[in-house]
Amino acid sequence: MRVTMRVDGADTAADIDRPGESLLATLRDRLALTGTKNACEQGECGSCTVLLDGDPVCACLVATAQCEGREVRTVVGAVPRAVRDAFLTCGAVQCGFCTPGLLVTVADLLEREADPSDLRIREALAGNLCRCTGYEKIIEAVHVAAAASVSGAEEARATDATAWPEAATTPAVDAPAPDSVAPSAAAPPATERTGDARPSAGEPQ
Ligand code: FES
Ligand code: FES
Repeated sequence: MRVTMRVDGADTAADIDRPGESLLATLRDRLALTGTKNACEQGECGSCTVLLDGDPVCACLVATAQCEGREVRTVVGAVPRAVRDAFLTCGAVQCGFCTPGLLVTVADLLEREADPSDLRIREALAGNLCRCTGYEKIIEAVHVAAAASVSGAEEARATDATAWPEAATTPAVDAPAPDSVAPSAAAPPATERTGDARPSAGEPQ
């Protein structure tokens, strides 16, 4: 059975051989996307968290067959740089096994709430278990990432406001529209991923 999905921005086809195959198994074993971790396979630990049509799910509990035509974002495609950097600078990564799932959950939280409280962070992370860090550094990292995201957005807005001063004040009839000459902010061209790629022996599991 062939299932087509959009995974981390790429049109992707996976050939599965049993209807109940989990999205986690497909991502790791067929598409070699081993950043999504397999710890419990029972929906208990959150290590396998991915975004399915924008909502966080445990990939071990979702059948790949349910994902036809849907969008999947893993730790590879779901996490802004500010979140990754904050985890590193705050020491929120120890063994790292829980980290991909936490990063996806935090990215989703900050997408919905720019500056969440400690309570909201703890609620959002309730489904992600970490045996190493004690969570305090993770919560600190969320605050650092939130602050960085807010200041980054402000910088981007300030840059936008000054990028085309003449266009903003005195639009010339013959002048090219800013969109036609400005550096494109469009998403990179879609790529395609097909197949049954298995991780090579040297790749992280
Ligand atoms: S591996 Fe999916 S929740 Fe633990
Ligand atoms: S860093 Fe080891 S389980 Fe979280």
